Amino acid sequence: MSTEPYEGVVKVDFDNGVAWVTLNRPDKRNCMNPTLNRVMHDVLDDLEDDDRCGVLVLTGEGTSFSAGMDLKEYFRETEAKGHMATRRAQRDSYGWWRRLRWFEKPTIAMVNGWCFGGAFAPLFACDLAIAADEAQFGLSEINWGILPGGGATKVVEQLMNQRQAMYYILTGEMLGGQKAAELGLVNESVPLGDLRGRVRALADVLLAKNPVTVKAAKDAFKRVIDMTYDDAEDYLVVRQEAANHLDKTEGRKEGIRQFIDEKSYKPGLASYRR
Ligand code: COA
Repeated sequence: MSTEPYEGVVKVDFDNGVAWVTLNRPDKRNCMNPTLNRVMHDVLDDLEDDDRCGVLVLTGEGTSFSAGMDLKEYFRETEAKGHMATRRAQRDSYGWWRRLRWFEKPTIAMVNGWCFGGAFAPLFACDLAIAADEAQFGLSEINWGILPGGGATKVVEQLMNQRQAMYYILTGEMLGGQKAAELGLVNESVPLGDLRGRVRALADVLLAKNPVTVKAAKDAFKRVIDMTYDDAEDYLVVRQEAANHLDKTEGRKEGIRQFIDEKSYKPGLASYRR
């Protein structure tokens, strides 16, 4: 077994509140093999409990964000070991994507290059996504004989309109960063040379907010998607009350005080001072 942290398949670098998590199999275009999927559980466990991580950025080393599932190790070799091996491999991959979806801190996918098939799942799991114009996205599964599994079909159902989702599912056609932004797969797309700076600036915006509120707001949004309006109204009241309890700084009271009494900021224009 490798003695490198995370067995060499994932790198984690800290920089002023940001944990840059880099999928690190550039020779294999960062496709996800069982080792990477297992190790990502440790990465997320470690970062959730590490004060150096205020925002998690997920990206890929080299020319690729991730070329999806590893066709050799995740599919062929796992299948050869039998049904339970396949189920275990699915549990590991689906598991870290789910953990990422509900991560305690805000997350940004920084899509630097290829993003295929299974990679749509961690892309979707991140709260926000910024792509390089040069990135290429594709549901390539149809090209090698399977449907977009591992959540990928659900991802495009959630993020794109039905005609567009079906088009990319059935054709396997690629789309670049700008088109991905236009269709809602990512928030925005910038030239590759500006990508890291744009993500850093976005992370700084998130770092300036009250972290309890950020966690409550992102979970609330993800939860209400499948609720009726009335259920959502009620859930949001309860979720805010839970956040009030969790926020030992009593941020909302301080936010009101700085606006109403101190007149030191305007909530419509900026965040209160933490
Ligand atoms: N599974 C397994 N191996 C993969 C892989 C994947 N998803 N994606 C890339 N690789 C491997 C290649 O087999 C090659 O290995 P080798 O050096 O041992 O021959 C290496 O990574 C480099 O890939 P290559 O195809 O030469 O790189 P490229 O830059 O010319 O092309 C892609 C990049 C992403 C367009 C191409 O690798 C590709 O189509 N990958 C599959 C994408 C896919 O369908 N993913 C969906 C899976 S759900």
